[in-house]
Amino acid sequence: HVECKIGPSILNADLSNLHEACIKMMDSGADYLHLDVMDGHFVPNLTFGHPLVKCLRSKVPKAFFDMHMMVANPEKWVDPMADAGADQYTFHIEATEDAPSLARKIKEAGMKVGIGIKPGTSVDAVVPYADLADMILVMTVEPGFGGQKFMSDMMPKVKYLRQKFPDMDIEVDGGVGPATIDACAQAGANMIVSGSAVVNAEDPKTVISLLRQSVVK
Ligand code: DX5
Ligand code: ZN
Repeated sequence: HVECKIGPSILNADLSNLHEACIKMMDSGADYLHLDVMDGHFVPNLTFGHPLVKCLRSKVPKAFFDMHMMVANPEKWVDPMADAGADQYTFHIEATEDAPSLARKIKEAGMKVGIGIKPGTSVDAVVPYADLADMILVMTVEPGFGGQKFMSDMMPKVKYLRQKFPDMDIEVDGGVGPATIDACAQAGANMIVSGSAVVNAEDPKTVISLLRQSVVK
């Protein structure tokens, strides 16, 4: 059966001191780090790219880097991200016209393949490519910003995917925290991204273990 993993999104951390934030999350019990790359085209916001990931990798050598690529040309950054030390590369199905060759490129570069869908995208858009993916990401907010409200009406997508693919990693991202985790867990998500609820908490360790308990039970 699929394993439950908690991956803090460091988008709302102190970006001038990102490696400390990453180390703090790993020390607080995080299973992986969810790194949000935004290009100002696919989403109306900017974050960082592979040069920063490479620096981060040198200071956080062991953590699993789950790259959430909210970019218009996901093909373009596969090799640079692999070279920077990324472990998983999640592209959005809305951003590519050739998901199979993109997935192949990611695998050839030595990374795991994630495929994401925005809230407005039907789950049917991703099902044909599921066998090429290690993970499917169901967005529970409109991508672009941290700290938004969780969209519970995305849960049927998660439920549908879990029924269809019992062994697949299914990730939820956006507005997930202690108040919304139960819905995600019940629907069948096993990779839990949580940004502001964890990063801005006084005691991230407690929040992470709270999230874990909800998914495991
Ligand atoms: C949104 C990002 C998310 C977000 C999560 O575009 O993909 O990863 O930062 O942050 P919270 O948990 O605060 O919604
Ligand atoms: Zn994300």
